[in-house]
Amino acid sequence: MERTLIIVKPDGVQRGLTGEIIRRFEARGLRIIGMKFILMSRALAEKHYAVHIGKPFFPALVDYITSGPIVVIALEGTNAVQCARNTIGATKPHEALAGTIRGDLALEIGRNLVHGSDSVDNGKLEVDNFFAQDELVQWARSTDGWIFEAR
Ligand code: RTP
Ligand code: MG
Repeated sequence: MERTLIIVKPDGVQRGLTGEIIRRFEARGLRIIGMKFILMSRALAEKHYAVHIGKPFFPALVDYITSGPIVVIALEGTNAVQCARNTIGATKPHEALAGTIRGDLALEIGRNLVHGSDSVDNGKLEVDNFFAQDELVQWARSTDGWIFEAR
């Protein structure tokens, strides 16, 4: 089953939107397999956003993501990566469609509330970067049969 890493960024936590953001992924049908409340170290931030090293916004991005507590969530589901990205909305909140998290709740790119893995490979890698194996829970939801069509 595909995995994706979601982060409620410091602005989401500070604004009291943690529950609202997690609610949308739960309602979508994605299954939570890991969750924790942490401060991201600068070292982990530089690893997580390594693809952006050297870009003009990189220092501000590291300052932002390490500026306060975050909630890190590992999700599992059919097409989890793309479905979560669609629920999150476009990177620039003014381009994000209404109905998405960023389109409903954010205004600026540097305060866009939430992270979601951008590829299936990165979903796997990022879940492993943030969670030890014994922090992930393999479980069957009683509703799985109403969300995942049996194959
Ligand atoms: P994320 O990785 O946080 O889920 O966001 P994303 O895929 O939608 O966007 P990405 O291109 O990976 O950019 C990572 C984060 O860097 C900040 N950013 N600022 N000022 C700028 O031009 C700029 N560009 C990117 C945003 O916080 C973005 O979410
Ligand atoms: Mg990204």
